[in-house]
Amino acid sequence: MYDMHSHILPGIDDGADSWDEAVAMAKIAEQDGTRVLVATSHFYEEVWPNSPESIIDLTRELGEKLEEEGVSIKVIPAMEVYITRELADLYKDQRLLTINDNKRYLLVELPTQEFPTYTEQVLFQLQVLGVTPIIAHPERNPEVFTRPERLEAMVERGILVQINAGSLLGNNGREVQKFTEMLMQDNLVHLLGSDAHGSEKRRPLVHKAIKRIEAILPQDKANAIVAENPRKVIAGEDVEVLRPKYTQRSRKKGFLGLW
Ligand SMILES: [Fe+2]
Repeated sequence: MYDMHSHILPGIDDGADSWDEAVAMAKIAEQDGTRVLVATSHFYEEVWPNSPESIIDLTRELGEKLEEEGVSIKVIPAMEVYITRELADLYKDQRLLTINDNKRYLLVELPTQEFPTYTEQVLFQLQVLGVTPIIAHPERNPEVFTRPERLEAMVERGILVQINAGSLLGNNGREVQKFTEMLMQDNLVHLLGSDAHGSEKRRPLVHKAIKRIEAILPQDKANAIVAENPRKVIAGEDVEVLRPKYTQRSRKKGFLGLW
């Protein structure tokens, strides 16, 4: 099992605040069935100006500690990069860390409440540089919620989408839960993550959400989200992106305000 989004590295963002906490999180993940966990520490220049080197070093150190403790989890270095106009320049300056440092996939976070006008442009600039952006938990963004066609347009251009396990389990409310299910059914979801921040609150759990995905989607589509796509993204291989099925059905439902 894979967890594609977590703040497990200690002391560099609002996630784990100590090595003990990081190890405790890894143990919870292991118990839940996770074998590969992507450490996506925040990058936001004004708040968390983390460097790729520091994240790679901390990941290695955590790996050593987990081995000592007998915790069978592989931790992969990455970042969750907050979107700004300067993202392409920051990437060119080697300030951003792609997933597994593979120069191929980058987890990008939108602001909580807005959808900046430059979003599509910045994502396209990254694609021109050979980087495929993965949008982190767009189901929590109110603009995507009211206008999912913006997300659909991005997926049509080859951008990937990661949803949070908690959204699928109703932790962000019933509406977000139903919306997340709709995104899945419309081929707008490619990856799953816990977005874990600690061992007590926002924990590194994905197993229940995987069961939910397997209950909602046909086997091949569920398998793509929970196994195939994560493996390919970490390896830096191409992911098959299905055409969005964002349908009249969904549009009509949205229009009628049924979700
Ligand atoms: Fe996050």
